[in-house]
Amino acid sequence: MTAAAGQAGAQSFTALLRRMTWEAPGVLSLDFEAEDGRELPPFEPGSHIDLTLPDGQVRQYSLCGDPAERRSYRIAVRDVKGGRASRFVHRGELRPGVTVTLGLPRNNFRFDPASRYLFVAGGIGITPLLPMMRAASAAGTPWTLLFCTKREAQAPFLAEARTLGGEVTVHASEEGTRLDVAERLREAPAGTLLYCCGPDALMSAVEAATGHWQPDTVRFEWFTPRARPEGEVSDSFEVECAQSGMTISVPPDRSILEMLNEHGIEVPCSCEQGICGTCEVTVLEGEVDHRDSILSSAERAANQTMMCCVSRAKGARLVLDL
Ligand code: FES
Repeated sequence: MTAAAGQAGAQSFTALLRRMTWEAPGVLSLDFEAEDGRELPPFEPGSHIDLTLPDGQVRQYSLCGDPAERRSYRIAVRDVKGGRASRFVHRGELRPGVTVTLGLPRNNFRFDPASRYLFVAGGIGITPLLPMMRAASAAGTPWTLLFCTKREAQAPFLAEARTLGGEVTVHASEEGTRLDVAERLREAPAGTLLYCCGPDALMSAVEAATGHWQPDTVRFEWFTPRARPEGEVSDSFEVECAQSGMTISVPPDRSILEMLNEHGIEVPCSCEQGICGTCEVTVLEGEVDHRDSILSSAERAANQTMMCCVSRAKGARLVLDL
């Protein structure tokens, strides 16, 4: 998974790009190690890191290596036409031996216990799912991967996925085996937890097909912000910061994050699009208009936290634990 630009997160460190490996046409994996070879901060399946590009822009990438391998992190970067990260990784300045700045691992795509897992991946969306497959096999839990791609030869990490101990089915749209999402997901087998990551069209299809599944049994990792309703209106409201005692007005065309920063209340941020989780803040009072692509429906209903880069207030006032 990768996301768009922003400022570097609050906690970061430098690491050495040790090697780059072709995983499929247009997909390179990058292995990072500490400059002195020490262990890197631990991560859980589903975690991502911030990578600061040579021009200072930051992108988020899922960690797709083995969490038990403590001395290296692996991410994968797809060659996207016009993509900034593509330019550096596939045609430019990021080469083995270069030192980069990484953020500490963060996890918005938590891997929870279940009696069976169903993984649905589209292309490079396989990356956050690989550590989950390893963890599921290590726990002796059966799992199935539905891997959607245009052509089987273009599916990154397919050979690796096939060694991880589950049932792997490839659905290649240009080879006559496109996944019929609605048909395949009509049944919600008891105890199944579904994790999905891939292009918007696939994720939206999975979301639509699983609307009748039990709450919180289907989890998504969005590459890009989810589409907002057409004609969505943003009103002004006030944010009271309980710790500082400051009250800030948020006009319709500004975000809470921007207004907080403008008033000297610094909240770490990265993507500024509601997809990385860096700017999550605790809500003490008021109802949130959640506009992020991270929180589940249960977490939204709980109204305990919000992503202040995109989410707003439903009413006239929010009280935040800031
Ligand atoms: Fe990424 Fe807000 S900065 S979710």
